[in-house]
Amino acid sequence: MPDKKFKKNLLCIGAGYVGGPTMAMIAYKCPQYKITVVDVDKDKIAAWQTDQLPIYEPGLLDIVKTARDKNLFFSTNVDKGIKEADIIFISVNTPTKMFGEGAGKSADLQYWEKTARDILRVSESDKIIVERSTLPVKTAIAMERILSTGDKALNFEVISNPEFLAEGTAMKDLEKPDRVLIGSKETESGMKARNELVEIYANWIPRDRLITSNLMSSELSKLVANSFLAQRISSINSISALCEIVDANVTEVANAIGKDSRIGDKFLKASVGFGGSCFKKDILNLVYLCEQFGLYEVAAYWEYIVKMNDYQHTRFVQTITRAMFNTIAGKRIALLGFAFKANTSDTRESAAIYITQKLMAEKAKVVISDPKAIKNARKDLKDYGNDIEYQEDPYKAAKGAHAVAILTEWDLYKDLDYEKIYNDMEKPAFIFDGRNLLDHAKLFDIGYEVYPLGKPPLIHFKEV
Ligand code: UDX
Ligand code: UDX
Repeated sequence: MPDKKFKKNLLCIGAGYVGGPTMAMIAYKCPQYKITVVDVDKDKIAAWQTDQLPIYEPGLLDIVKTARDKNLFFSTNVDKGIKEADIIFISVNTPTKMFGEGAGKSADLQYWEKTARDILRVSESDKIIVERSTLPVKTAIAMERILSTGDKALNFEVISNPEFLAEGTAMKDLEKPDRVLIGSKETESGMKARNELVEIYANWIPRDRLITSNLMSSELSKLVANSFLAQRISSINSISALCEIVDANVTEVANAIGKDSRIGDKFLKASVGFGGSCFKKDILNLVYLCEQFGLYEVAAYWEYIVKMNDYQHTRFVQTITRAMFNTIAGKRIALLGFAFKANTSDTRESAAIYITQKLMAEKAKVVISDPKAIKNARKDLKDYGNDIEYQEDPYKAAKGAHAVAILTEWDLYKDLDYEKIYNDMEKPAFIFDGRNLLDHAKLFDIGYEVYPLGKPPLIHFKEV
């Protein structure tokens, strides 16, 4: 039964990168709601109850501390949570399916379907179900179908409320979002459920940023938003290859085109490739959807965004190999950064994973350094055992190295003592800046052979 002290009971299933921060923000902004976050992972729930949260997100701990045990609770008791909830957010993970039909492209919905069945089994009252995970279009309809198979005559209204929070800025994105998308059926009960969600967000977000739409538009908009963002990165990365050859500078090109207000200046930073749990997965979902409907040209168009990203990994390793006299076997290469971007410990789909695999295939001696992501890197690369060295301290990682490669744009890498690093490296000392983070002219003056991204290299000797 709903707790009398509170207006409504909100439950979130899945205490990960999305569920945890989202519910912490709602709890913080809406003391009138009781929020419970459940997860099957006992260790994760235990960590949410301490000050060592299971995820690193700037500003998150303060907000959790303000609300925890007042109106924000963490638990492993999924059934109890479901029973008591009026509104259930679902934030379980939906990785790309790695088996059977649609393998490598479509979403693996087994956790999501299990969650739907748990809700059906346990519920004793009507509920609003909020899809917070990114899901393939039409999932909400499928979910409703599962939920309507019960014999308890309960009403489940499924709403799509996709997350647009980027890791590292999740709390800011949640507090001041560009927009919140709320999709529902346009029936009377659908509109009522939609309005309940609008009421929650309206506690801190201006109404004109709360966009309501039909279910399908909301689900599709999430996939399309991520695909467009990734498309910009692949576009500029494709141009980075050309810039390196024709004496152009990709940063200058990006600046010049970004100043055109029709294009805009965001997501135009050339890089070793985009990563993160969403971009690749969401594009591939879009591709799979188009293929299913026979839109093969549309599917191929979007799939190329991912192919261009793979090419950027390959190209980066090719640049390293070619610069280092066409062999890196046995050479110590220090990778500075393993997280898929700065300010997160998350390594899902990080370009660093693919680059490490390619360097290992060339028999390089890879050393990985990162201020937050070493633990995850070890998991990602467990198959290599002791063949890979891990050093949180970048100086130790670079000591004796033939090359240093910047893979994540951590601020701390800007201010390292590159003279000291140079002195401790094998010569010629190579530096490959996969994020264009460093002062390349200065590095060149120290003595490095400098390979920026999307700019011609600065080298002391003629390439062979
Ligand atoms: C989210 C979204 O759900 C995904 O669709 C989106 O595209 C990326 O972000 P995220 O929060 O990053 O996923 O995933 P993760 O940090 O792995 O958290 C999911 C949690 O759900 C995990 O803690 C997992 O233990 C939990 N879970 C999973 C359950 O509690 N029950 C299950 O049946 C499955
Ligand atoms: C993204 C979306 O931004 C967010 O709205 C969605 O909900 C989840 O997916 P996130 O994965 O946290 O968020 O990271 P984001 O900041 O978008 O960066 C994704 C990747 O693109 C990173 O690897 C980043 O380094 C790379 N990137 C980003 C570039 O290479 N160049 C850029 O200009 C911007």
